[in-house]
Amino acid sequence: MTFSVARNPQPASDADREAVLAAPGFGKHFTDHMVRIDWTVDGGWDEGRVLPYGPISLEPASAVLHYGQEIFEGLKAYRQVDGSVAAFRPEANAERMQRSARRMAMAELPTELFVESLRALVGIDEQWVPQPVDQSLYLRPFMIATQDGLGVNAPSSSFAYLLIASPAGDYFSGGVRPVTVWLSTEYTRAAPGGTGEVKCGGNYAASFAATAEAAAHGCDQVVWLDAFEHRWVEEMGSNNLGFVFGSGPGARIVTPALTGTLLPGITRTSLLEVATELGYTAEEGKISVEEWRDGCASGAITEVFGCGTAAVVTPIGAVRSADGEFTIGDGPAGAGGPVTAALRERLVGIQTGRVEDTHGWMTRL
Ligand code: PLP
Ligand code: COI
Repeated sequence: MTFSVARNPQPASDADREAVLAAPGFGKHFTDHMVRIDWTVDGGWDEGRVLPYGPISLEPASAVLHYGQEIFEGLKAYRQVDGSVAAFRPEANAERMQRSARRMAMAELPTELFVESLRALVGIDEQWVPQPVDQSLYLRPFMIATQDGLGVNAPSSSFAYLLIASPAGDYFSGGVRPVTVWLSTEYTRAAPGGTGEVKCGGNYAASFAATAEAAAHGCDQVVWLDAFEHRWVEEMGSNNLGFVFGSGPGARIVTPALTGTLLPGITRTSLLEVATELGYTAEEGKISVEEWRDGCASGAITEVFGCGTAAVVTPIGAVRSADGEFTIGDGPAGAGGPVTAALRERLVGIQTGRVEDTHGWMTRL
């Protein structure tokens, strides 16, 4: 598909863009353009359009505004050593968005069109792709239900797919540092048969009360536990988790298994492979809150990290809950552990073209 292009008549000045790229933060600034592709039950996908970034107009009765029929993705484009731009595993994000669409009774955007939309936006807004290694262009594809009407007897018959982009630095404030997390026992994120394993906005809407609780306890983010016993560790508010048992080349990394209630992170799957390449053992498993606490106390668990597109690989230094607090490794004031650092370095190396991409994970945009 070719995309029609309506250029932004008032793009950011070079000075304004440079100021943003000097300290992008996360999700605060957006590039000059966006992509939109509309879908109707009768006509399928319409032509793709590159438009100036700006407000969109919706009927007040649009389904997305009442019933939250919305899905999204998150992936990054990286400036490569040779100056070109490449995205990390965009096909995997396209496929996850299709799974999300099926669960939420929405239209499936074909993988090729998804990747073409990234090319259309990054092509026109290329100057917004920061220099590596700790910065990238965060791409946020999303889809909303646009049919107006308040009945709930059928899913929406029209959708709009949009893509926006935002230069990104560190997700957690204060740079790469061990974060402190809050174990949520009052709230539940997801139960079997629900929407926990897809990326719909409602999962996040329902998480903000726990996020606020975490912040009130001085924590950076919430850790979700299983719905039945509030005992088995699932994932964090914006990323998956990895537990490091032992140290050195013999270290074993365990990430909570996909039970249907946590998001199958693309970073998580990739790290299982990267970890093996680095000589560690990597596996999926079941970790309870007690094993986490006791393992940290005995030294069996040496490091714990969060992993996701936005969070990259972030060490966790302390865990708080209604029962108290325990620390991991050298704690929140430390530097995080060597296995976490090695995983991060190798992953970012592949993403920025500094380490050979033997997996074919990078797609030139
Ligand atoms: N879990 C949640 C709840 C997330 O929002 C994300 C981020 O997308 C992840 C896990 C990690 O997924 P990925 O590695 O594909 O970014
Ligand atoms: C991502 O890492 O892409 C996410 O979606 C996290 C986001 C909810 C901030």
